[in-house]
Amino acid sequence: MAKNILLLFGGVSGEHEVSCVSAKFIEKTLIEAKYQVIPVYINTEGNWHYQSRVPDNPEKHEINPCFLHRHSDCQIQTTDNKFPVDFAFPIIHGTTGEDGKLQGFFEFVDIPYAGSDVLSSALCMNKYYSKLIFQSAHIPQVSFIKVEKHEWTKFPEKIINNIAKDFRFPVFTKPASMGSSVGISRVQNPENLNEAIEHALKFDDLVMCEQGISAREIEVSILGNFPDYKVSIPGEIISSHDFYSYEAKYLDTNGARLVIPAEISPDQSMTIQELAVKSFTSVQGCGFARIDFFLNKEDNHIYLNEINTLPGFTPVSMFPKLWEQSGLKSVDLIHKIIQLGVEKYKQKKTLKTRRNG
Ligand SMILES: Nc1ncnc2c1ncn2[C@@H]1O[C@H](COP(=O)(O)OP(=O)(O)O)[C@@H](O)[C@H]1O
Ligand SMILES: [Mg+2]
Repeated sequence: MAKNILLLFGGVSGEHEVSCVSAKFIEKTLIEAKYQVIPVYINTEGNWHYQSRVPDNPEKHEINPCFLHRHSDCQIQTTDNKFPVDFAFPIIHGTTGEDGKLQGFFEFVDIPYAGSDVLSSALCMNKYYSKLIFQSAHIPQVSFIKVEKHEWTKFPEKIINNIAKDFRFPVFTKPASMGSSVGISRVQNPENLNEAIEHALKFDDLVMCEQGISAREIEVSILGNFPDYKVSIPGEIISSHDFYSYEAKYLDTNGARLVIPAEISPDQSMTIQELAVKSFTSVQGCGFARIDFFLNKEDNHIYLNEINTLPGFTPVSMFPKLWEQSGLKSVDLIHKIIQLGVEKYKQKKTLKTRRNG
């Protein structure tokens, strides 16, 4: 059984600060669960620093540069120390941590790790390609189109006219691969589309335009490896802003509140839980995730919004809170996530990598 857990946190994404808070909570829980924790902080430039404990301000404790060394086993090496690693727990939200890149690194150095694998992470991070998969699995979603930079630079007016013809306003414009609502606009009329698309294109060459709806935001947590999943009770995020924007998420302390369990009917709850399993199955998700839905206030239709494969994991985050209220304490949740990571690793090891191997 995995004992020495590399806890990787921080990172170069816009969710650096949330990652540090998530790491503190996961570290506390890992210690309670009797694991040895090797905390490694990745600063905003991407440099690795070993820290004996996850500190409050990790950027002020960059005194122990380190790297991951792999020979017959894996170790974190600092200038004067070595720490054996037998499992990695990445809690780096967003770009490079949640999009399959870090997962690819773990596969490359052959170390078991928590959460989704390369393909499911990369798919869920990309709002366009994940939607294509969900569509092929007949999961209800709001209507959407993509805007590609190379087309936009040639035919901006045509694209604006098409959107104005096919969608009702407001529409939402989003960079395909971001998080934390960065680059997202709620566009009230066609005159504002140009600015909103230009803004989203600063973050990605691929932009999504989605039908805006007046929606309640219902979320569930999921645990398991393909194809056996368990889903938590649903919770609701009630934002006090126009939408659940970056400001509402991180800057305004009264920007949003969580209601657990969500005040929806048993039927709605069941539909959301079933759709959660169907959507995680469609991307072959592993380990854990938070799955976000829209419940249209006008007609009660339920739509999948997105899957977050490395959701916020702070003491006040929806992901652990939903499990707690579903009867799974954080210590047991962490055990389960590690156990699932080890099982996934062992399963992959049963497959041949060469014809004659
Ligand atoms: N089609 C939509 N209709 C209504 N609100 C939306 C729509 N798309 C996004 N939003 C709002 O914007 C927020 C962020 O969008 P989301 O796609 O979840 O991006 P992120 O990955 O950055 O969280 C949502 O939580 C919701 O408040
Ligand atoms: Mg979201």
